[in-house]
Amino acid sequence: MTKEKNSVLHLGIDLGTSRSSVSASNGERHVVESYIGWPVDMVARKLVKKPVMFGHEALENRPMLDLHRPLERGLIKEGSEKDELAVRELIRHLISLTKPHDGQRVLAVVGVPAEALRVSRQHLRNAVKGVADSLMIVSEPFAVAYGMDALLHTMIIDIGAGTTDFCVMKGRYPTDDDQRTLTNAGDSVDEQLAIMIRTRIPEAQFSIHMVRGWKEKASFVGEPDGVVEVTVPVGGKPTNIDITSELRRACESLLPPIVETMLDLISRVDPEYQETVRHNIILAGGGSQIPRLPQAIEAALTDVGGGRVTPVKDPLFAGSNGSLSIALDAPESDWEKLPG
Ligand SMILES: Nc1ncnc2c1ncn2[C@@H]1O[C@H](COP(=O)(O)OP(=O)(O)OP(=O)(O)O)[C@@H](O)[C@H]1O
Ligand SMILES: [Mg+2]
Repeated sequence: MTKEKNSVLHLGIDLGTSRSSVSASNGERHVVESYIGWPVDMVARKLVKKPVMFGHEALENRPMLDLHRPLERGLIKEGSEKDELAVRELIRHLISLTKPHDGQRVLAVVGVPAEALRVSRQHLRNAVKGVADSLMIVSEPFAVAYGMDALLHTMIIDIGAGTTDFCVMKGRYPTDDDQRTLTNAGDSVDEQLAIMIRTRIPEAQFSIHMVRGWKEKASFVGEPDGVVEVTVPVGGKPTNIDITSELRRACESLLPPIVETMLDLISRVDPEYQETVRHNIILAGGGSQIPRLPQAIEAALTDVGGGRVTPVKDPLFAGSNGSLSIALDAPESDWEKLPG
């Protein structure tokens, strides 16, 4: 009996633009930044001592690597075999972190941005070929909904790095009509913040990675609690600059498109259920951690009768935990058999 049970490892994988996570039925949980890098030449290979590097380690060694972030704006970059390979290596790496033992069958549910599922299903299939024994690809917001048992009259808004994904749950597998994707998400906030700072202080020197770090530490919408100051070289000299107003504007740039799409999706729900959906809105993804964002979205709902917006408790693993629940529940017929 035990042997039978142990011969299968169920995995839930959340394949994200910036971070990917895995939750396994043996209790393993891991998160990796979605970077993959190969040493550029013989010198680099000698230095890094590895054929391929992942996540934070890849980012740190980037001068020596051919670095890929394969899911830009939620899609596998079209026509790039290297990016397909990068996705495959990333999934393989995530699986290896869960330590399946020899001979164990790996059944994986992979959650991807809703738009990627619609547009590059074939690319994704190619990318994941051979990495698991059986596999199912689902949309990320659906995975989040499943993991939270929020399957009926709910809306998930997953604010990631590349995309913000919406999904209205109607008690069945969501269709294309139940889902939307916007490219207003974490990366676009970073880009806007960088542009605004550069416009005001053209001599300031900083990278997009630094900008993302500042945002993650101090993000907010609405009235600021205090001054947000960062230190950057200006003409080579470390200088404190106040970015409070730029940071607020960059974070608040998410609000109008998110509110518009949310209201549009609500207006398409059967009238008798609209109020229930309005009161069951779940924010997921890294962007759900922006202080006071749930309240700001709730404020936009007051005009249409009010509502309730709740951020998920565990934004890092909400997607992969949900995918794992799907993997454990899915009947045999829902799985695709993958010849190795
Ligand atoms: N405290 C925070 N405040 C604001 N943004 C944050 C915070 N923490 C993380 N983020 C942002 O959330 C984004 C990452 O979220 P998440 O891990 O859900 O994305 P992803 O799943 O990799 O992307 P996608 O779902 O688009 O493929 C990044 O843009 C990151 O900067
Ligand atoms: Mg995500």
